[in-house]
Amino acid sequence: MEETIKYIKAKTDGFKPEIGLILGSGLGEFADDYCEYALLYSDIPNFIKSSVKGHKGRLVFSEIEGKKVVMMQGRNHFYEGYTMSEITYPVKVMKELGVKTIILTNAAGAVNESFRPGDLMLITDHINFMGTNPLIGPNDEKFGERFPDMSEIYKKDLIKLAKKCAEKLGIDIQRGVYFATSGPSYETPAEINMARILGADAVGMSTVPEAIVANYCGLKVLGISCISNAASGISDMKLSHMEVIETTNKAKTRFKSLILSILKAL
Ligand code: HPA
Repeated sequence: MEETIKYIKAKTDGFKPEIGLILGSGLGEFADDYCEYALLYSDIPNFIKSSVKGHKGRLVFSEIEGKKVVMMQGRNHFYEGYTMSEITYPVKVMKELGVKTIILTNAAGAVNESFRPGDLMLITDHINFMGTNPLIGPNDEKFGERFPDMSEIYKKDLIKLAKKCAEKLGIDIQRGVYFATSGPSYETPAEINMARILGADAVGMSTVPEAIVANYCGLKVLGISCISNAASGISDMKLSHMEVIETTNKAKTRFKSLILSILKAL
């Protein structure tokens, strides 16, 4: 960690971010417009490279709407074969850089049948169905306690603030519970039925590990899903990664204005 932080600080002239933003599938372009410093993941000591299409793999630093922000243009996923501690390492890096609030974004399938592709959803809570937990292993008290409370990961005040921002922009925003699976296969219709019965509104393959670690480190978390498709079995359409990227790409203008408005209001 020391090596990682030393390298980042040296390459960014000591830029001290206060807000972290992890950009999910199809949403990474946001960082292209705000790019004071950009470091390739592969150049950062002990960081890892992202290999999924549609992800760039850069850590981008910029002042946006008067806030100092560090952005991950593309994240690493459990299904790529990385360990939980590898995929959540960047969250700890952000904590070490001074980040206090983290915005986690993703593309997700709609489990809630009233949601439409292109909708944005504020994550109110999550269900970890990945079969593991990123905090398994020896605990480093420097970051957080052994048994962290999880009763309000996605902070109510941030959800309220984001909702207000969306209203001001005329964006009809959804709220709901994000259900995380390991992937990489999409779910079966039976699994989506189960997720719905368990209280899920959206389903995806990311975000939850980062949210658990961010909460553990004492970061305030805001989660935003871009609904990219109806989940398995809801429509007759077969699911494809292309569709996910295309739909999130179409939502990117709304996504961008919402993020800008949130950053301004924070
Ligand atoms: N399931 C899981 N992950 C996803 C989906 C989905 O339907 N859409 C985007 N990410």
